[in-house]
Amino acid sequence: MIARRTILSLVAASFAAFAFAAPASAQFAKPEDAVKYRQSAFVVMGSHMGRLGAMAQGKAPFDAEAARHSAQVIETMARLPWEGFTPATESLDSHAKPELFRNMDDVKRLIEGLNAETAKLPAAVGSLETLRTQVGATGQACKACHDKYRRKI
Ligand code: HEC
Repeated sequence: MIARRTILSLVAASFAAFAFAAPASAQFAKPEDAVKYRQSAFVVMGSHMGRLGAMAQGKAPFDAEAARHSAQVIETMARLPWEGFTPATESLDSHAKPELFRNMDDVKRLIEGLNAETAKLPAAVGSLETLRTQVGATGQACKACHDKYRRKI
């Protein structure tokens, strides 16, 4: 029979391992992986914004179910890229301006602004009119950050 103490120390060890993995900076083996991670999240988010934008502009037929799917993907993806902006990535080649890493409070504010808009997207897919309004507001939140902190792509 395994002693109770052994079980407790196993549990403690697994928690310790978890705590070790928790800091964002420790989640990527190399800084290059962090850049790839954040860019991948942006690409997926951008693809679904493109689909909603096409509907909003009448370039694609309005489809509430497809819009709901894209809205949910965007809401989730909009929480992901940020942990990839680790200090170790500042010197790497990417589309991020170096100013981003020196203005993290401002960046945080812009992220919160984005997340406030993306949270409203899934509820806005019921009609083309509400979708158009919320896609516009979300697009403004993307642009507010790109204008300041993203290089021309
Ligand atoms: C808080 C700032 C910020 C917000 C908000 C933001 N982005 Fe970005 N975005 C960036 C930065 C910085 C990059 C460059 C990332 C890199 O190259 O590592 C980027 C890159 C991208 C890219 C190109 C990916 C690449 O390979 O560089 C796409 C597409 C994109 N963003 C879409 C969006 C969309 C769509 C939204 C809104 C739904 C959005 N972003 C909101 C900062 C932001």
